[in-house]
Amino acid sequence: MSHREPHPEGERLQKILARVGFGSRRVCEEIIAEGRVTVDGVVAELGRRVDVETQVVAVDGAPVGVRPDLVYYLLNKPAGVITTADDPQGRPTVVDVVPDEPRVFSVGRLDGETEGLLLMTNDGQLAYHLTHPSFGVEKEYLALVEGEPSRALLRTLRDGVDLEDGPTARARATAVEPNLLRITIHEGRNRQVRRMCDAIGHPVVRLVRTRIGPITDPRLAPGEWRELTRDEVRSLEVASASEKPATGSEPP
Ligand code: URA
Repeated sequence: MSHREPHPEGERLQKILARVGFGSRRVCEEIIAEGRVTVDGVVAELGRRVDVETQVVAVDGAPVGVRPDLVYYLLNKPAGVITTADDPQGRPTVVDVVPDEPRVFSVGRLDGETEGLLLMTNDGQLAYHLTHPSFGVEKEYLALVEGEPSRALLRTLRDGVDLEDGPTARARATAVEPNLLRITIHEGRNRQVRRMCDAIGHPVVRLVRTRIGPITDPRLAPGEWRELTRDEVRSLEVASASEKPATGSEPP
């Protein structure tokens, strides 16, 4: 690994960590002294300077968003709002709901008719980790379905169903009510939950995403958004660095 010179004009590491919520400057100095912090993969020394634009800081192996310009929003997407930056048909989009500046994009997507939690950010690194299937971050949905799926069919959902783009990985599926399923997947294929329910003969009537990794918020009303807390951002960074699918490929 090549040796990089510290950036003389960069911010000091303990100051950066304190700014992004790891605790007081003193606490952050201790975290660094314990050897838990790396910069570009190399264990960092106390007092080193970091270029937050280009260098990757990680704590306990999980990258930390350290750029001061990064924003993270949690949106409860209503049905009929489209997950795109610009809809040629002029329908309302998720980008219309959150502040214009800085420009953000959605982390993954929800179908037009699907409701529920959607992350929006300008942090490309976190978005990549959260959406890349090999990191396997869990997404939980409530699906109101036609009819009442049998226990055997719920087991089929859990074990994997054959879709045209291949079998689904193991999932969690339980009946909250006879026609209301809680389904947790860690893949992110197009219309996956709808297609899984179609495949067992119980099409979705209404679909709501209720959790993304560790993030949930039952009090956020449809159409509302809020900023993630520092702790929530960190919990996503940790989840996307450590969660892995039960089966499937390793991260690149
Ligand atoms: N599964 C679906 O079918 N639709 C979504 O929007 C998300 C997951």
